[in-house]
Amino acid sequence: MSAKNPAKRAEELRGELARHDHRYYVVDDPEIGDDAYDALVDELRALEEEHPELRTPESPTQRVGGQPLGKFQQVRHGEPMFSLANARSREEFRAWETRLHNRLRQLDIEPGELRFVSEPKIDGLAISLTYEDGTFTRGATRGDGVIGEDVTQNLRTIKAIPLRIDEAPKLVEVRGEVYLPRSAFAELNEARTAAGEPAFANPRNAAAGSLRQLDPGITASRPLSIWCYGTGAHRGLDLRTHVEELDWLRARGFKVNDETAVHETADEVVARCEWWEARREALDFEIDGAVIKVDQRTLWRELGVAGREPRWAVAWKFPPITATTRLNKIVWNVGRTGRLLPFAMLEPVHVGGVTVSTATLHNEEDLARKDVREGDDVVVTRAGDVIPQVISPLIQRRKGKRLRKPKPPAKCPRCETETVKPTESVWTICPNRRGCPGQTFQQVKHFRGAMDIEGLGEKNVIRFLDEGLISDPADIYDLTPERIQELQGFGEVSARNLIEEIEASKERPFGLVLYALGLPGIGYVNAQALAEHFGSIDALLEADAEAIEEVEGIGPVLARQVQEELSDEGTLDLIRRLRERGLRFELSAAERRSHGGPLEGKTFVLTGTLGELTREEATAMIRRAGGKVTGSVSKSTDYVVAGESPGSKLGKAEELGIPVLAEQGLRELLAV
Ligand code: IVH
Repeated sequence: MSAKNPAKRAEELRGELARHDHRYYVVDDPEIGDDAYDALVDELRALEEEHPELRTPESPTQRVGGQPLGKFQQVRHGEPMFSLANARSREEFRAWETRLHNRLRQLDIEPGELRFVSEPKIDGLAISLTYEDGTFTRGATRGDGVIGEDVTQNLRTIKAIPLRIDEAPKLVEVRGEVYLPRSAFAELNEARTAAGEPAFANPRNAAAGSLRQLDPGITASRPLSIWCYGTGAHRGLDLRTHVEELDWLRARGFKVNDETAVHETADEVVARCEWWEARREALDFEIDGAVIKVDQRTLWRELGVAGREPRWAVAWKFPPITATTRLNKIVWNVGRTGRLLPFAMLEPVHVGGVTVSTATLHNEEDLARKDVREGDDVVVTRAGDVIPQVISPLIQRRKGKRLRKPKPPAKCPRCETETVKPTESVWTICPNRRGCPGQTFQQVKHFRGAMDIEGLGEKNVIRFLDEGLISDPADIYDLTPERIQELQGFGEVSARNLIEEIEASKERPFGLVLYALGLPGIGYVNAQALAEHFGSIDALLEADAEAIEEVEGIGPVLARQVQEELSDEGTLDLIRRLRERGLRFELSAAERRSHGGPLEGKTFVLTGTLGELTREEATAMIRRAGGKVTGSVSKSTDYVVAGESPGSKLGKAEELGIPVLAEQGLRELLAV
């Protein structure tokens, strides 16, 4: 079909389709059937094929997604994406409200005028949509709140997101939560299980997994949706209240929850939050609470932000979902450092839409304190992403049953070495650090995770260990394509790819290698701190516990433990062998250089709300320049940076005669 005026017709079709997408995906009230809709799409597609110059990125035909990406680009949000303070009970909510009133009184604002808006707290994935002159130009994940990942192509496939908006300002960031409807989640998991793929643990993970796809075609195949709840940076927009803000979004075609409500009193807010909690299970999207915001946006700036949490909003969190089931057996796993970890094998049970059959019991003291026994009926909980936990046994149901108190095994369940319980420890351990297959498995698994050797998944780790191809992390670097190919399931290409990945991992920086070693108590952050402080493994190996204790974040107990571990023959042998295979055991020249910045050796303390910078940004800037940021003011503090409404740290600084800077002063120091 050829139109008389193709440009005009294309524009018409785009308008029509955008309207139908809105009716179907946002208002849930379609005007036309699927066939009529498809006919419009087909017509537009044909037009665009005939006249490629008419194809625009915001055309509805472009929603299906473009080329797969190699990786996501990082993007800086125009305005940071904040977190929320939590209120876990009525009392905590009241306390928040009281603090709010006190603050307003200080600002000389009559609290009587205050209004609140309540809305559901969607358990999805926070994203930011940028519109420039009305066109959707970029969408990003929250990331660390300051910098996120560019997922524009993927967000384009979500039909509830308008690609163009009318009466638009120069610029606006729209904030919202992408989610997968519960019904779609169930279907998706069924299909995945049938296809032999792992099921997602919950709708939130499924939404995250669907959005963070390098191939937008996959995102397009998942029926994601979005709830929008606010704006970020904007130019040419004046919104006085949050209600106005939500209405503005709704009028531009964004999906905004219709059950948001305005309240004059805290009692009304509490009642509404309880109402949301009672409705929770009836909704087709997961919520983990309600969000309460001060309605007057004019007060937002005055109230300010504490850390990452604005003072004008709070999340009313629902208690975690629980269920009751039989605990069939307590099993003990061996961890990376030899700790015996109790696990509960449960009669499978649904907890908040997820089937749970194992739960953690933390450690043996926790087990004893809760008095959990095999055969008990227990209460199990699951909160968000956290591993399910056993909360407590139902003692009253024990009647007539004789259940024995569980004890950690006398011999390691994997290598049968006699276990020991060091004094002052809550853990019984298997002391066979380098010979226990259970520990070796956990060590290799941790190593490949830290070094990010993708092709070496858990299954392959198990196979390589079982088949005797490797017996510790250093052996990974002796693997050859020939050896790997002998295993079933590996071809020439996959074997070669894996070897290439392993080779590439030799380039990982010293901090990561140190983390990968899996020293007890040394997580990612501590490993970085050790690497930066000592600069090389040789310097670290020479250090005594006292020297290690000087590293930020490492206390005396941990320092001694690290020192002991680094004197252990097995550890030294592993380090030697990894070193021979070419891994990095010192900081690179570039890493060292970045530490000779203008603030080298200077210690800062931040207090109050800074103007343009968030505290995280200020901290990152100071660190990049070689300085340190600590939490409390002492004689060794060099500068205190104070913002709006500083805390007692300012007084302390004045008392000690430490220079106090405003944000501008910090910028000047950094510019040296
Ligand atoms: S407001 C104050 N409103 O909850 C600005 N957030 O814990 C913060 N969330 O990262 C956002 N539903 O992704 C706001 N109605 C809602 C929300 C909501 C879910 C998420 C959001 C944020 C997290 C904070």
